[in-house]
Amino acid sequence: MDQPLRLCFVCLGNICRSPTAEAIMRHRLRERGLADRVVVESAGTSDWHVGDAADRRAAEEARGRGITMDGCARQFTPADFARYDLVLAMDHSNRADLLAIAPGEEAAARVRLLREFDPAAADAGDLAVPDPYFGGPDGFVHVFDLVDAACQGLIDHLEARLSRSG
Ligand code: 4NP
Repeated sequence: MDQPLRLCFVCLGNICRSPTAEAIMRHRLRERGLADRVVVESAGTSDWHVGDAADRRAAEEARGRGITMDGCARQFTPADFARYDLVLAMDHSNRADLLAIAPGEEAAARVRLLREFDPAAADAGDLAVPDPYFGGPDGFVHVFDLVDAACQGLIDHLEARLSRSG
């Protein structure tokens, strides 16, 4: 079998949105029998929360939906571009920060907004997963729903890519 595809979800702090995406994606890949074909990680553009566990509010929302979040925050570095096939930014600011440290055009081309893979979001022209950190609990419910929909679309895209590569 080919090498697995490698993905990294990226937000600002790596304690709310991107670890939520990492946990949902791993869960959905298992459900769809693709867990051994895709490696999933996450990171933050900032170093503000390096070493911290996921935000309690994000972890509680995920737990309520039957998904466990583990791991701790780390910062995305320019060297990381070589480690991933796709780098999935949560919002436009995360994407801009990633493009600013991309070591070249090939690296920059691997950066996408996660919600580009949600057909409904693409149609509505709203491609950001909004930062829930300073808001109330509803923000974490919303993030979970947006990320879950986009992850399902992303898996559809990856399935097509994997079936082309054998
Ligand atoms: P995240 O959320 O980027 O989804 O992990 C944030 C976490 C922390 C902060 C901002 C956003 N902060 O300002 O510390």
